[in-house]
Amino acid sequence: MTDSSKAAGIPTIDPATLDGTAPEAAPTHPEIDWANLGFSYIRTDLRFLAHWKDGAWQQGQLTEDNVLHISEGSTALHYGQQCFEGLKAYRAKDGTVNLFRPDMNAARMRRSCDRLLMPPVPEEMFIDACKQVVAANLRFLPPYGTGGSLYLRPFVIGVGDNIGVRTAPEFIFAVFCLPVGPYFKGGMSPVNFIVSEYDRAAPNGTGAAKVGGNYAASLMPNRDAHQRGFGDCIYLDPETHTKIEEVGSANFFAITHEGAFVTPKSPSILASITKLSLLELARDRLGLEAIEGDVFIGDLSAYKEAGACGTAAVITPIGGIQYGDDFHVFYSETEVGPVTRRLYQELTGVQYGEVEAPAGWIVKVE
Ligand SMILES: Cc1ncc(COP(=O)(O)O)c(C=O)c1O
Repeated sequence: MTDSSKAAGIPTIDPATLDGTAPEAAPTHPEIDWANLGFSYIRTDLRFLAHWKDGAWQQGQLTEDNVLHISEGSTALHYGQQCFEGLKAYRAKDGTVNLFRPDMNAARMRRSCDRLLMPPVPEEMFIDACKQVVAANLRFLPPYGTGGSLYLRPFVIGVGDNIGVRTAPEFIFAVFCLPVGPYFKGGMSPVNFIVSEYDRAAPNGTGAAKVGGNYAASLMPNRDAHQRGFGDCIYLDPETHTKIEEVGSANFFAITHEGAFVTPKSPSILASITKLSLLELARDRLGLEAIEGDVFIGDLSAYKEAGACGTAAVITPIGGIQYGDDFHVFYSETEVGPVTRRLYQELTGVQYGEVEAPAGWIVKVE
């Protein structure tokens, strides 16, 4: 394994030399149209890179180089030995910079690493790397009020010379970031989804881990859904195909006619940090009954509202769901339901520092 930035002679930047500009004073990027950001790759200034070798994570550093130079035998390339995370930094109302529950992402990445026999990244290293990347790319952080945020993509990959199906001799942990707007076009307006005939994950497979293989398997169903005019797929439980599991890139929730917040519980879905947060906010702030339980695809009329939730999706209201020949509309295909709207306001209010956050949810980037 070669450190690409050193190999290419590209200078790396020691975080200690960053000038410590206060977040409030940092200028924003002059050429970015903040109000019209989508979810596309934008190369930012610096990313964090650390190597694992000889049994330990080495000290990482920020680098300008956005290209990894890795062995052709890397397990990440052949056997999918890799995992990733997604979290966001927000410019808060008071001008400070908020990370939303990075400890939860660190914990989930630890579980993903464990599942794929990769060395876990310690929580402190994970959060510190995220903070360094945000602080080093402040000019890409969307200003408060634009609805944008800085998306962080941490990942771990198996690298180094190898050919057999076994765990890699070396690993890379990296974090890069990019400014984003809404994941689903239209942002907070209803999107329609279609139930996929494919399974996203096996009953005892890797569905609960955030690993690339799950997403590779979802590319074709996702393409098919788009071709038919839907935002994404909804996957059913792989064992009985009777219960909603999740959306291709987000968890699912619905509101019953009695006003309960319900979200599927299954060992093969990704434990969404947004979903876990909404369960608490629904219960503690909106006074709703909050349930993790079965949502049967044959019983959609029990729900008056539905939505997809995730770091990227935030809360995307679901207009309707196509299941075979049936198209079920929840609240409306054009209007957002009142409970979904309240949940959105509460969640984004916490993230942008407009309402008080539950203890420990916000970590400041100093
Ligand atoms: C398959 C899948 N489910 C759910 C989520 C939402 O998880 P979170 O709220 O932690 O972003 C994501 C996005 O990360 C996802 O890719």
